[in-house]
Amino acid sequence: MSDLIGLPGPPPVGETALPADTFADVSVFVTGGGTGLGKAIASEFARLGASIVIASRKEEHLASGKDAMEALGAPVLAVACDIREPDAISATFDEAEKTFGLPGVLVNNAAANFPVPAEDMSPNAWRTVVDITLNGTFLCAREFGRRHLTAGTPGSIVNVGASYAWTGGPGFAHSAAAKAGVKNLTESLAVEWGPYGIQVNALVPGLFPHEDMTADIRGSLDRTSDKDPCQPAMRVGQRQELGWAATFLASPYARFISGHTLVVDGANWQRRTLTNPPVTTVREQMGKGPFTADS
Ligand code: HXC
Ligand code: NAP
Repeated sequence: MSDLIGLPGPPPVGETALPADTFADVSVFVTGGGTGLGKAIASEFARLGASIVIASRKEEHLASGKDAMEALGAPVLAVACDIREPDAISATFDEAEKTFGLPGVLVNNAAANFPVPAEDMSPNAWRTVVDITLNGTFLCAREFGRRHLTAGTPGSIVNVGASYAWTGGPGFAHSAAAKAGVKNLTESLAVEWGPYGIQVNALVPGLFPHEDMTADIRGSLDRTSDKDPCQPAMRVGQRQELGWAATFLASPYARFISGHTLVVDGANWQRRTLTNPPVTTVREQMGKGPFTADS
């Protein structure tokens, strides 16, 4: 393996390709911006002069996001908001608008996910993941779109997706279906709102491990071997690489890109052949015994 160099690593955290003032006077609304990839994306906007609004449910996540943005010198507003609730979204936008003006960028990053065999999934488990990941994305986009249409101002939406939108996601049927909806929604909204100046794109992260991953997701990763050699890039993603892609998509340099889904995964999702490793069921992968109707 030692002669396999993989894809080169990125420049370090803190470097930027875009001019330092790219988002000066722009407010960027990031759902789930207090943890993991949402925080990394918000950080890159903050480095480029944006004021940041973070919307999520948990106080500890909001505090963590706020601290991170303040450490970068960015004005920040962190608001408790469950994106399943249209009234809460509207109230959060009101607060954002009052504080920094109407957000010019919306990053729909918040999502829900846990590994579960489809046959074990309760109706409410399915509903919860679809409600947060797909419905929440739509509701936030709707709020952003309506406000910009009313104001007659342009804007940019970046929806965070996942590559199993195309491939299906065994063990994650709810999240994969919801992310397929997010990709499709991106394309519909880009056409509907282009005439009003609103750009709508999606960003698909490959594997980006981070310290905020939920125990379920972390456990699912830990069940398999070292992640770097499993990727064509011979490495997983570094969070700033996703943040840079998000800032580019929402920047003036990408104004003619809309309805696009940009995959940042070192080609991992294309790694499919007709001779894959032997099949193991999701139950086996998760260390679960045979299905019983009362399990
Ligand atoms: C089976 C589960 C479950 C699990 C919850 N449920 N966890 N079922 N296995 N591990 C079921 C519950 O039993 C319940 O159904 C229903 O789901 C709702 O659960 P609640 O706990 O009441 O929901 P809620 O408090 O709204 O919390 C939502 C949540 C939670 C999704 C369950 O995990 C959460 O808040 N997650 C947010 C962060 C997150 O998911 N991040 C992952 C993003 S990563 P019943 O029938 O009992 O009522 C990602 C891609 C990563 O998307 C890819 C990496 C490889
Ligand atoms: P994460 O740290 O678990 O982030 C999920 C975020 O969503 C949390 O900040 C959470 O905040 C917020 N959230 C969840 N439910 C919410 C709700 N009902 N209302 C408001 N906010 C809610 O996961 P992550 O890895 O950073 O994932 C970020 C995005 O990347 C997701 O869209 C995910 O699907 C995608 N993704 C990640 C990977 C990866 O390798 N990490 C791979 C593919 C795709 P609260 O708990 O405070 O509400």
